[in-house]
Amino acid sequence: MALLNVNIDHVATVRQARQTDEPDPVWAAVQCELAGANGITVHLRQDRRHINDRDVKLLKQTVACKFNLEMCMAEPMVKIAEKIKPDQVTLVPENRAELTTEGGLDCVKFKKRLTDITKRLHKKGILVSTFIMPDEQQILTTAEAGCDAIELHTGPYANATKDSIVEKRLNELRDGRDIAAAAGLIVHAGHGLTYRNIGPVAAIAGLCEFNIGHSVVSRAVLVGMKQATEEMKRLIEAGN
Ligand code: PXP
Repeated sequence: MALLNVNIDHVATVRQARQTDEPDPVWAAVQCELAGANGITVHLRQDRRHINDRDVKLLKQTVACKFNLEMCMAEPMVKIAEKIKPDQVTLVPENRAELTTEGGLDCVKFKKRLTDITKRLHKKGILVSTFIMPDEQQILTTAEAGCDAIELHTGPYANATKDSIVEKRLNELRDGRDIAAAAGLIVHAGHGLTYRNIGPVAAIAGLCEFNIGHSVVSRAVLVGMKQATEEMKRLIEAGN
């Protein structure tokens, strides 16, 4: 059964809109867990535009399910991960001007750095995943760098509007899963997933963990975090 990690970055986005202390992502994480979330994901960005160091520290102390920290490969971020010791680190590319993560990490270009970081995080008992496009070279390089998992970028699938393109993107995800599984990697997926488009990806066997943020937080504004998490969990379990 595929698992749901709720990405709560945008709870912090609302807080930062007024630079105040509410809504608290720590409270949101508790609500997600009570509703059956299998993990909590946050992206600590270098510009701290939403999640901040205080959140990461408190979430590490309070999250009882999996705590997945998304971050780029910059040295100050690696040092934070070594100190905080989340259950999992997902390495992502980061560009200061972007609205959200754009594209996947270039593991081929940064293979040496990725290998070094993976060794360092493994020493702290942290699982390492890379957020990548379903590209054979990227997947194989992630495996060669010693990582445990990949997160397949579902953004191109989520953005596709024509049925034929949607099907093409789903096939790319299936092929990526096969290559990763053959290389001994665990396969996660995420980005741009919503209550409307989760069905077909949740039906892909072998995608074992989904990271979903914006859509769940958006729904939570209207129905509450507990109901929003429960609804998404049901859709992942139904997978169709
Ligand atoms: N996975 C990764 C690696 C991401 O960077 C993000 C966005 O922070 C997500 C998943 C969640 O994407 P969304 O907010 O579109 O659900």
